[in-house]
Amino acid sequence: GKLTQEDLKRVAAHRAVEFVEPGMALGLGTGSTAAHALDRLGDLLRAGALPGVTGVPTSLKTELHASRVGIPLLPLGGDRGPAGIHLSIDGADEVDPDLNLVKGRGGSLLREKMIEGAGDKFVVIVDESKLVPRLGCTGAVPVEVIPFGAPHTLGLIRKVFDGLPGFHARLRMVKKDAEEDTPFVTDNGNYIVEMFFDDGIHGDLHDISDQLLRITGVIEHGMFLGMATTVIVANKDGTVTVME
Ligand code: A5P
Repeated sequence: GKLTQEDLKRVAAHRAVEFVEPGMALGLGTGSTAAHALDRLGDLLRAGALPGVTGVPTSLKTELHASRVGIPLLPLGGDRGPAGIHLSIDGADEVDPDLNLVKGRGGSLLREKMIEGAGDKFVVIVDESKLVPRLGCTGAVPVEVIPFGAPHTLGLIRKVFDGLPGFHARLRMVKKDAEEDTPFVTDNGNYIVEMFFDDGIHGDLHDISDQLLRITGVIEHGMFLGMATTVIVANKDGTVTVME
């Protein structure tokens, strides 16, 4: 039969888990694709196939999922040295031809960036719908901001892209009740600003990243530049392409 997108996510996730060796400390990603990797890791651990494997979760959701499937968890840092993570496995919202990513449309990005940037290898798992010519083509680029003065910070973020055709930015909201919306709150107690681009981000991504990170009130953004060491793409026909 025809493979669903869920099947493709699972194909990519299972391939990534083949990189895991006994004794490794893993960065455990967040999202529907990474969830398949957690399930697979849990199965292998229970079967005794990966002794000594531990994980550092990139979100509260992943922490719960990993505990449920029996992956022993570690905090970030501590006795294992400054990083101590051998390999991280996570999904992405977009992957560009240089393996730059947009992440965080599910709301997790700060812990992901801390953990995935600290490890030796970062393997990204996606189905082919995530491949884009330019970041920002298919939806929001999230920015995590301090709740204090969030409308002010939003104004400063807008200034970075002033005059760019089609650009707009807004605070991510969730339904509070029938009447009212309320800001979405991250695992770290912060808000998310969503940036939208008509045709993706043209221009120097590192320069744009620097400009955003220089804004006091911005904590981190969802552009993961030069971080992925491998991208595993599950194609529609079920074959896998490994990009490095
Ligand atoms: C979580 O906020 C994200 O960074 C995810 O890693 C990303 O959104 C990919 O999620 P899916 O695998 O569910 O598409």
